[in-house]
Amino acid sequence: MPSEDTAGRALSRSQAGPHPLEGSDAVRGARGAPGLPRARITAITSGKGGVGKTFVAANLAAALAARGERVLVLDADLGLANLDVVLNLVPKVTLHDVFTGKRTLDEALIEVSGGYTVLLAGSGMVEYSRLTPEVRDKLIDTLNTVAPRYDRVILDTGAGISDVVLYTVSLADEIIVVVTPEPTSMTDAYATIKVLASSQGRRHVRLLVNQRVPGIDGPGVAAQLQRVVDRHVSPGLDRPLVLELIGDVPADPSVREAVRKRQLLAECFPGCDAAQAIAAAAGKLAM
Ligand SMILES: Nc1ncnc2c1ncn2[C@@H]1O[C@H](COP(=O)(O)OP(=O)(O)OP(=O)(O)O)[C@@H](O)[C@H]1O
Ligand SMILES: [Mg+2]
Repeated sequence: MPSEDTAGRALSRSQAGPHPLEGSDAVRGARGAPGLPRARITAITSGKGGVGKTFVAANLAAALAARGERVLVLDADLGLANLDVVLNLVPKVTLHDVFTGKRTLDEALIEVSGGYTVLLAGSGMVEYSRLTPEVRDKLIDTLNTVAPRYDRVILDTGAGISDVVLYTVSLADEIIVVVTPEPTSMTDAYATIKVLASSQGRRHVRLLVNQRVPGIDGPGVAAQLQRVVDRHVSPGLDRPLVLELIGDVPADPSVREAVRKRQLLAECFPGCDAAQAIAAAAGKLAM
């Protein structure tokens, strides 16, 4: 659990004021006519890097697809995309080509063996790691185009509270923060959650505890974070911020092996503990 000290540090790190982007409601409102069926947009983010966002995005998408959802995963970690590595894809057309007008969005959509579609950023996207009005507009255009075609769009974002990460997350209907039980990951998750509350008006954030080790359980991690949020974040808000634990995924050697083989867990180790935990998380999220 972040101590009072760590919580205080996280607080001051996240008190740079509201980020300069438009509010999430304005962005959400820009996404299309109300009332029309469109995908639920789910952002997967984290405070600390390397906690398992891309692994979760790729495998949760497969589990949701297995439940019958039409899912698109968008590699929204624009500067440091790595969904292609996890899925063993060598894309011919990427979001970069779409953004630069060289190819159409349809040409960039790739069907993967997990039964869902991906839209890869590509290495050329490094120039988009800075948030410009052009990047904002292109992301919104892309989401507006794909949203009516799917039940869910998963945004695999970068870590941390940079403008580009917060902007991408601001486009989502719901947010999953991936956190591991290490103090640094929990402290950074806390900082992210605090910024989501203050700058995007979020009052409900989902948590997925990943790489849980023996002796620590997901509900315990969620309860620790909720206590710090109750103490340091909610008192300044119009209503309390609620964390909802949707996944409790153990550290499992099968995950490293699947990533090494560049395969989905459900394909190479379907019965392993982590695969079962991902399937359970999909059950909680399913619409
Ligand atoms: N449940 C798990 N058990 C064991 N290893 C895991 C687990 N989850 C993730 N890993 C390991 O952590 C590595 C990093 O995962 P991943 O690339 O998904 O993190 P990330 O949060 O997307 O990173 P980045 O912030 O760089 O985008 C994986 O390659 C895998 O080896
Ligand atoms: Mg990643």
